[in-house]
Amino acid sequence: MRFTLECIAAIRTNVGPDFPILVKFTPVHKVEGFRQIDEGIAMAKILEGAGIEALHVDVGCYEAWYKAISTVYNEEGHQLDVVKAIKENVSLPVLGQGKLFDPKKAQEVVAQGVLDYVVLGHQMLADPHWANKVKQGNTMDIAPCVGCNECLLAGFSGKHYYCAVNPLCYAEKEFALPKVDGIKKSVLVIGGGPGGMYAAITARKRGYEVDLYEKEERLGGTLWAAGMPTFKHDVLKLITYLERQCLKTGVNVYLNTEFTLKDAKKDYDKVILSAGSSPMMPPIPGIEKAGFVSEFLTDRKEAGKQIVIIGGGLAGCEAACYLKENAETVTIIEMQEDILFGCDHCLNNDQALRQMLQDNNINKITKATVTKIEDNRVTYLQDNQEYTIVCDTIINAAGFKPNDQLEDALEEIYDDVTVIGDAKAPRKILTAIHEGYHAIRVME
Ligand SMILES: Cc1cc2nc3c(=O)[nH]c(=O)nc-3n(C[C@H](O)[C@H](O)[C@H](O)COP(=O)(O)OP(=O)(O)OC[C@H]3O[C@@H](n4cnc5c(N)ncnc54)[C@H](O)[C@@H]3O)c2cc1C
Ligand SMILES: Cc1cc2nc3c(=O)[nH]c(=O)nc-3n(C[C@H](O)[C@H](O)[C@H](O)COP(=O)(O)O)c2cc1C
Ligand code: SF4
Repeated sequence: MRFTLECIAAIRTNVGPDFPILVKFTPVHKVEGFRQIDEGIAMAKILEGAGIEALHVDVGCYEAWYKAISTVYNEEGHQLDVVKAIKENVSLPVLGQGKLFDPKKAQEVVAQGVLDYVVLGHQMLADPHWANKVKQGNTMDIAPCVGCNECLLAGFSGKHYYCAVNPLCYAEKEFALPKVDGIKKSVLVIGGGPGGMYAAITARKRGYEVDLYEKEERLGGTLWAAGMPTFKHDVLKLITYLERQCLKTGVNVYLNTEFTLKDAKKDYDKVILSAGSSPMMPPIPGIEKAGFVSEFLTDRKEAGKQIVIIGGGLAGCEAACYLKENAETVTIIEMQEDILFGCDHCLNNDQALRQMLQDNNINKITKATVTKIEDNRVTYLQDNQEYTIVCDTIINAAGFKPNDQLEDALEEIYDDVTVIGDAKAPRKILTAIHEGYHAIRVME
């Protein structure tokens, strides 16, 4: 405590008695053998005695970084137990945080006296107008944080903070849309995932006519597979938000309508190909017996009790945890030396997902190559040894390839075609949304 107390004293000397000093501190590390709540309460009392004006409660540490900086896998209000314990032991105003983005929840915790002030971190990057929208009762128009931590990843990679759902984050002026100039243009968007929806909404904001074709019965694309697991519903909120913005801004949405070259009759000034991706079919004898991971994640296919998942990337690992809710065993087989090997996500999301796999007793077989799939059997090679697992469900989570088949033909017909998101290369929500936004922003 000495360093903190000396800092407080030095600040007070410089700012005088009327300037409020607020201290953010970590009463609990949430790691066994690390700082526990008793010590945290004692710290809070010492800080209170040091003549500060408010305490901002933080939780966690780098070893459990996801408990400090929220991920999609954390529950709403995941730090509130600690906040409450501190609030009960000091008379200073207490600030608390940890996924308190839902305005209802934020109001509730203040009303219940769990804390005095709600702190919002991520959500202010996702939508800096949160407070004004809440004040105006306009909560449906808040762009929701999806807990991906692309912001943190960017910051820790030496870039400015990016936000997956807000291309204007840290670039409000640089990336602002040109003023609407009354010039009428028309835009065709093929595919209603996050990339296509964002492009369409942006085009409407520029005053353009937009036709959006989606072959499925609903907008959202791969966000459905990403958001359906019980522990990832934040992603579903993004579908609701984007869908609402499409309707509100007046995008002409054609559902259940696969765009084919036969439909390329009308003139458009700009075409956005945002058709997403399709599953890869690794060259394994019997691979057609495996179901695709997205089908299980979206509950279009039902899994049994003994599940084998081929591929330990993000989709395979999340499917493992989700399906284990109703299965007896789930085994991931991964070629690389570790699961989540090429997964370019932030360390705190990685920690949280690995913890969830461990808590769910998911079996992981790495450095293993699946050589054969038969009914109810998967055979693989590991260290030149052949093994067989008996199972009732086999899932292909071996990766995705871009749906860019229409690109060349569209370029023959239209002057200005941009391929965005997973249709360019299967990646992330951030790339889909940002590419959709910028493709329209730079239109002349
Ligand atoms: C299990 C899983 C979990 C994921 N989790 C995350 C995550 O946590 N964070 C993250 O950043 N990313 C995640 N991703 C990746 C992310 O979902 C994708 O990168 C993102 O959805 C890509 O958006 P998109 O708009 O380019 O394509 P998509 O979301 O795939 O949308 C493409 C749309 O185009 C439609 N379409 C295709 N062809 C046509 C046609 N000819 N005519 C009309 N419509 C057509 C499709 O039906 C689909 O709706 C995850 C992916 C998976 C599979
Ligand atoms: C991109 C990013 C960077 C952050 N960097 C720091 C930091 O350097 N120090 C710190 O104490 N907290 C940091 N935080 C945590 C926030 O200050 C804030 O306490 C927290 O995000 C609030 O919780 P919430 O995001 O669940 O609302 C960071 C959060 C984000 C999203
Ligand atoms: S980058 Fe992802 S986690 Fe960070 S604020 Fe934006 S949506 Fe939330």
